[in-house]
Amino acid sequence: MMKKELEKLKNEALHAIEQAINSKETEEIRIKFLSKKSELTQSMKQLGSLSKEERPAMGQFINSIKSSIITALKEKQTELEQNQLNQQLLEEDIDVTLPSVSIPVGSRHPLDVTVETIEDIFIGLGFQIKEGPEIETDYYNFEALNIPKHHPARDMQDSFYFTDDLLLRTHTSPVQARTLEQTEKNEAIRILCPGKVYRRDEDDATHSHQFMQIEGLVVDKNITLSDLKGTLEYFIKSYFGSERDIRLRPSFFPFTEPSVEVDVSCGLCQGKGCRTCKQTGWIEVLGAGMIHPNVLKAGGFDPNEVSGFAFGMGVERLTMLKEGIEDIRHFYTNDIRFLTQRLSEM
Ligand code: DAH
Repeated sequence: MMKKELEKLKNEALHAIEQAINSKETEEIRIKFLSKKSELTQSMKQLGSLSKEERPAMGQFINSIKSSIITALKEKQTELEQNQLNQQLLEEDIDVTLPSVSIPVGSRHPLDVTVETIEDIFIGLGFQIKEGPEIETDYYNFEALNIPKHHPARDMQDSFYFTDDLLLRTHTSPVQARTLEQTEKNEAIRILCPGKVYRRDEDDATHSHQFMQIEGLVVDKNITLSDLKGTLEYFIKSYFGSERDIRLRPSFFPFTEPSVEVDVSCGLCQGKGCRTCKQTGWIEVLGAGMIHPNVLKAGGFDPNEVSGFAFGMGVERLTMLKEGIEDIRHFYTNDIRFLTQRLSEM
């Protein structure tokens, strides 16, 4: 091959390289101009037919053509890679001014907030938090609480039974019975027991087959009704506000004697009487009383040695009264509009 032809080949190659727009094309160019079968490689093989004098110069010439093609290919390849990267960066450009995808933050359930608020008040008075099983025996749910079989008080708590002896607890009071039994008989008790309870009940605006209660139990030497009143007055003023009053009305519970119903003065009419308090000025909030001697005895305590008081309240009811919630079902239907409202004491 003549020098002139080789020069032409080189220009052809360099031109092709310049025009190439992707690595597929540069690869084709490499094969065409540098592979074993390429004209350039072939001409190398023909060097043998040249004279000794011509051979080195011609060899050098061919090599220089080869290396300029290689260099051009390398440069092109770098250029193509750089272009591709720039293109990619352009396409993946992030617009930092776009509003971000918001991750919804959950909120605490209103009933949990109430339970914690009430726990805090009683922890401040030296109470301990205690829990018990939701599946309970007839003994702890009724018998140990002075509600014998066939006692009419059972009717009000007609419940969900697994067997004759096993049921979903109808109140948190069985935790009283369990705690009495477990406690050393020379020790005092001050406990608060929150938890779920179950009753066969119509579901309407104020009733639910499942709801929450908080039970309180205090046992020590010389506990009197005035301790009960003072404790509940402190609790109700802490929970509803110091301007609210309480009153005790006589009532009946099998596990307390005497038993009382505790009312709080109506916050809407300041006790004057309105629709909410049915013109009485008072709203019932919880049941309480002095622990019945039979309950102390069932727990192994001597009613002549110690005395105590107990109380039980509905968590939903307290929350509804405080926050002005008109339907108990709001707590269970998981409507985000309801759940994200902030409670006043949060
Ligand atoms: N266990 C009662 C109920 O579910 C509530 C109650 C009333 C609990 C008086 C008490 C109490 O501890 O002394 O209706």
